[in-house]
This record gives sequence, structure tokens and C-alpha cells, in this order.
Amino acid sequence: MNILILGSGGREHALAWAVKQNPKCDRLVVAPGNAGMAEIAECASLDIMDGGAVCAFCEAQSIDFVIIGPEAPLAAGVADRLRDAGILCFGPSAAAAQLEASKAFTKEICDASGAPTAAYARFTNAAEARAYVEAQGAPIVIKADGLAAGKGVIVAMSVAEATAAVDDMLGGAFGEAGAEVVIEEFMEGEEASFFVLSDGKNVLPIGTAQDHKRAYDGDEGPNTGGMGAYSPAPVMTDAVTARALAEIVQPTVDEMAKRGMPYQGVLYAGFMIKDGAPRLVEYNVRFGDPECQVLMMRLGAQALDVMLACARGELDRAQVNWADDHALTVVMAAKGYPGSYEKGTAIGGLEGLPEDSKNMVFHAGTARKDGTLIATGGRVLNVTARGETLAEARDRAYAMVDQIDWPEGFVRRDIGWRALP
Ligand code: AMP
Ligand code: GLY
Repeated sequence: MNILILGSGGREHALAWAVKQNPKCDRLVVAPGNAGMAEIAECASLDIMDGGAVCAFCEAQSIDFVIIGPEAPLAAGVADRLRDAGILCFGPSAAAAQLEASKAFTKEICDASGAPTAAYARFTNAAEARAYVEAQGAPIVIKADGLAAGKGVIVAMSVAEATAAVDDMLGGAFGEAGAEVVIEEFMEGEEASFFVLSDGKNVLPIGTAQDHKRAYDGDEGPNTGGMGAYSPAPVMTDAVTARALAEIVQPTVDEMAKRGMPYQGVLYAGFMIKDGAPRLVEYNVRFGDPECQVLMMRLGAQALDVMLACARGELDRAQVNWADDHALTVVMAAKGYPGSYEKGTAIGGLEGLPEDSKNMVFHAGTARKDGTLIATGGRVLNVTARGETLAEARDRAYAMVDQIDWPEGFVRRDIGWRALP
């Protein structure tokens, strides 16, 4: 079959890498793609936010299956347009994508389905929000309702910090996304991510992971999109996973179906886990980046089979064959990220690195210029390895990092610390 993947990050390179290994994939097209994806797929220039343009492209190119990587085209209804046109597609409708696009909507779904999450209140009025913060005290969490590129959450350690965040958000710092704020109880515990596929009715778990959001070693520095990840997450024991499915994920999927907005695609649940009890922090309606890189490393070619079963509504007949393995990815980012950084710097040393089922460098912000690989974004490479133990995966990933010649880049040296002795 002919397959189109929308997106250009490390997440989409990992998806492309897994899909390409499956013999069902005859032709692989990515839009817009990056230098790494260009080595295994055709890159098409296409406005991935424009559902009409994506449909027209699929019809002209005889595309049989579309995998949508990022949240923005999902929230914009690209999956709806594809399904209306009769094109098989992996990714939720715009209505279902509200689980990521509106924090207030997600809270409403939790209330209706009884899923454990932080206590909260919603505000559009700054004076009322400030009064609530003062009554509750700190620590407290302030969230812009809408999509804010990962920057719309302030975990405030003092009332002053919380009221400043309220003023900022309701004052327009995030535009429409901040027109309403959700103020939440601060939850203590250990965070982990859980990924399931849902076809609207059935749910298939496809792995757990932990991310490293801060820029520097020891979880210091500013928040980023993620500086590394590993899978599985030891805190997601079988017992915690079973509770998460029964108390949070399946009730959400059931509630969405009841509301006439069945959830089809990957549902990424972020949990806070304390004393074996998971509570929902947030949902995302796409794979995590860089969590997808470690999930794809572990799933390999079967990723396409389960995504197809998901899109066709046949997840009750699908399964994942797990190896008893671990995967870890280290993000190489441009010095200065997540603030300002230089673009166009040259990257060397990738040619000698292994590329196989245990070692892969997934590209994010890269391009080729006159044959040279250059950095074009903040997060640039995802150096990923799989092993029988997490320590083995970590050692191999860092051995590859050390062979990459990119003086303008940096990595965290402690990816996996929580799960390693
Ligand atoms: P979110 O975008 O909702 O995942 O929030 C970003 C990060 O803020 C999460 O990964 C948590 O580390 C933290 N966070 C969000 N909500 C809470 C909460 N209610 N209690 C504690 N930490 C939170
Ligand atoms: N790595 C976090 C995310 O993709 O949201």
C-alpha cells in the first residue's frame, strides 16, 4: 500500500522508519519530512494544515493510508477531511482532539467518567482567578486552556508566581489559547506516560515511557519539548497499568463514544503516580516526541499493523508481540535551545554509525545543504538504541552521541537516571 506520513520531527522519522520495515508498505511519502526521512521516503511539499490540499494530494498520488504526526493538523480537522473523502487515516477528529486542544474539555470528560485527576476550577476573569489562587495557596498549577506549544503550564511554587501567571495568561500572552485558564491542585508523585491505540471502542496498550522535560542534567534549567526518553517506565507496573486502563483510559474512550466523538488514533496519557495510584495529568492526541522514538524502536514493523487495525476499527483483533527489551533516546539540541539558537551549523560523523533494529539516529530539525547535513531547528537528532537492559541501551546511545561531530549541539548526559542504579 501507499502510505503518507504528515510531519517533520523525530517522531515522524521514527514512524517512517517502523512503517518502512513492514512488507505491506510499497511506497512511503512524507510531508514535509527532513533530511533523515529523505533517506527512506519521498518528501512532498504540502501544507499539512490544509485538509483539502492533503485530500487532493492523496487522490492524485493514490495514497491508501495517512498517518498524522502532530497535534495541529488534528485539531484543525485534517483527519475529518480525509475520512469524509473515504481515505483511511490514523488520527482523531477535531472534536476528539479537544482532549489535547482544551484542558477544560479534558477535565469535563474526567468528571463525567469518574477518572481520577487533580481538583480544579476554570476562569475567564482575572480577579476571580486571583482570589481562587489566594484562597487555595501554593503550590498550585495554572494552565492556559488551549494549545500553547507546550508553554501554557505554570507549576507555581508561590502565590505571587501563580497570580503573575494568571495575569499573564488572561492578559493575552497566549492569545486565544489563554482566554480561559484552568487552575489545578498540585499533584505529587512520579510522572509516566502511557500510550494506547483506540479505534473508538477498543483499546490496545502500546507501551509506557518517561520523558526528561528540563534542558540540563539533574532536571535543571528551562522546560523543553523533551531531551530524552526511555521505555518501558518501571513505575508503570502491571498493577498500575491495569488501574490506569480501568479507571482512566477506557472510561475516557467510552465517554467520548457516548458523546458522539469516538476517539480514533493514539491516546497519550500523562499520569502522576503515587502509592500505586495513577491520576491523569493530561492527554495528548498524538505520539510523544521523543517518546515515539523509543516506542517505535521497540515495536518495529508491527507498528504499521496496529495503526492499520486502529484506523479500520479492528483493534479487538490486534495484538502487540513484546520482546523483553528496553529502548532509550538522547536528544541532541542546538546550544541555546529552548531559547534562541544558531541555525545552519554543520553536523558530521553520522556516516559511520550503525543503522539497524538496535541503533538508529532519528532526525528532527535537519536538512541537506550542498550535500552537508545541517541543523535547522532546536531539537535536531534523536540518538536511539535498544538493548536487553536499559543500561545497555543507554551505553550504546551515548557511544553513538560521542561519535557525532556537532560542536554547536548539546545533550543531557543523564537520560534514564530514574530507572538506572
Ligand atoms: P501538561 O502540559 O499538562 O502535561 O503539564 C506540563 C507539566 O507540568 C507536566 O508534565 C507536569 O510535570 C506538570 N504538571 C501539570 N499539571 C500538574 C499538576 N496538577 N500537579 C503537578 N504537576 C503538574
Ligand atoms: N515529550 C512530550 C510531548 O511530546 O508532549
